[in-house]
Amino acid sequence: MLLCACPGVKYWLIVILLMVIQYLDIAAGKHESTTRHYKFNVRLKNVTRLCHSKPLVTVNGRYPGPTIFARGDRVIIKLVNHVKDNVTIHWHGVRQLRSGWADGPGYVTQCPIQTGKSYVYNFTITGQRGTLWWHAHISWLRVSVHGAIIIYPNLHLPYPFPKPHKEVPVILGEWWNANTEKVIQQALQTGGGPNVSDAYTINGLPGPLYNCSNETFVLKVHPGQTYLLRIINPALNDELFLAIANHSLTVVEVDAVYVKPFQTDTLLITPGQTTNVLLTANATSGKNKQFVIAASPFVTGSGTFDNSTVAGIVSYNSHKFKNSSTIILPKFPSFNDTNFAANFSAKLKSLANSQFPALVPQKVDRKFLFTVGLGLNPCPVGVGNTTCQGPNGTKFTASVNNISFVLPSTALLQSHYFNQIKGVYKTNFPDNPPFPFNYTGTPPNNTKPMNGTRVKVIPFNTTVQLVLQDTSIAGTVSHPFHLHGFNFFVVGQGVGNYNESKDAPNFNLVDPVERNTAGVPKGGWMAIRFRADNPGVWFMHCHLEIHKSWGLKMAWIVKDGKGPLQSLPPPPSDLPPC
Ligand code: C2O
Repeated sequence: MLLCACPGVKYWLIVILLMVIQYLDIAAGKHESTTRHYKFNVRLKNVTRLCHSKPLVTVNGRYPGPTIFARGDRVIIKLVNHVKDNVTIHWHGVRQLRSGWADGPGYVTQCPIQTGKSYVYNFTITGQRGTLWWHAHISWLRVSVHGAIIIYPNLHLPYPFPKPHKEVPVILGEWWNANTEKVIQQALQTGGGPNVSDAYTINGLPGPLYNCSNETFVLKVHPGQTYLLRIINPALNDELFLAIANHSLTVVEVDAVYVKPFQTDTLLITPGQTTNVLLTANATSGKNKQFVIAASPFVTGSGTFDNSTVAGIVSYNSHKFKNSSTIILPKFPSFNDTNFAANFSAKLKSLANSQFPALVPQKVDRKFLFTVGLGLNPCPVGVGNTTCQGPNGTKFTASVNNISFVLPSTALLQSHYFNQIKGVYKTNFPDNPPFPFNYTGTPPNNTKPMNGTRVKVIPFNTTVQLVLQDTSIAGTVSHPFHLHGFNFFVVGQGVGNYNESKDAPNFNLVDPVERNTAGVPKGGWMAIRFRADNPGVWFMHCHLEIHKSWGLKMAWIVKDGKGPLQSLPPPPSDLPPC
């Protein structure tokens, strides 16, 4: 009654009560989840590197694109397409739990956003923190349409490593003087290997080792301080080594999952992967106290490649890069050092402790063996096709279990959701190679792959073991494989042919690394496990763009479960039509 006489007091009591509740929430370790809004205007921007100017497709005119920050929040990104190309964006590594409509691969979970049209990507980041990234997921547009996603731990939850003085995104990439849309068009037409990039970049800058290049990435550091570098590799076709002269790096996280920290002078990062490292500014010598941070390619195939090096500068107490004569490169492994690659990936282990357990499926419901590799098609006879430029006048192709995946002209997820699959996809993707052979030995003659749009359908919550086996049909080469919608555990890797009875007993089911992209070694195999707890259509492909263009991709369909939170909600009303 007393309060009724003075409504102002009642109001303030309620406010104070709410503040106390909020304080208790924070004290209990709960975070305030918010909604973060971003506007992505896809538009052309003239960019000059190596004295070549060209219009690049960008987000908001930025190259690399803007960073998305989140902390277990709902993220809403409104994309408006102002360019003539069709566009989609994938939030690489975001689990997209029951939000497959926002995953982004063109013709897989959505039809592309056409010129002048828009689409709102709406998803919630659940149970993830670390560095991920976003990129265009149509044709080769990701070359310039990419950026970082930084997910902070919940409020008051520290990192499981010393708090860094500063955090710095280090986005690697390629600069191409040519128009990459023309490069892939031409490669698919001639059947040969594609042209290669002209430079590598750090945060969009090629650095001082290239002709006519005067923009250099500079990281200013203070002696004794520790920095968290969030390294991302969005390059189209290049796995990269990265090192900093006179400094070692401590790897603490990959693909937004913490790992057991380990030190290394050089790290290897494939397209699609992210790696967080700690760098301590503890060098005792060095001219001008400037040290080169550099990246150069790791190459396992036999074609031509961009054999160049991007350099940036780690500069003590100064923002400026002083003098190009001080460039002393860190020592890299040789460009084809597959032993380095194997050793490096063997060092990656999950924390696997009570706070950050490794939930490796110990028993699996389904086992699959997929061959993944390059192949050759005969040159089609017909007007204008006198010769093809692949080996011996053939055309390069690539396949998974001998099926070279063809994107449909409508999106798989819509067809699945509305149960209109006829003429769009088939559900007969093989569990095993259709005809077994010595995958890494001398290939048989009859290996021409089929083209098709086939998917593998599995029930909700299936535990899956998948072995990906490289083949030698058109030369062995490593394949950084990416799975949408899930993280997987890398339980085994090896060279040669996978042998279940010999290799399976050696699987690491205790603390294998958990990630979303991992390399099938050249002429070898990789075994992964995951739990299919996310209903939807999930793309899986090699993250080397040329391999993907040749057909090294397939899709999983995870059916709805029975529970209330185990099914895919209906599509948003603005889902682009095909
Ligand atoms: Cu980062 Cu399907 O891609």
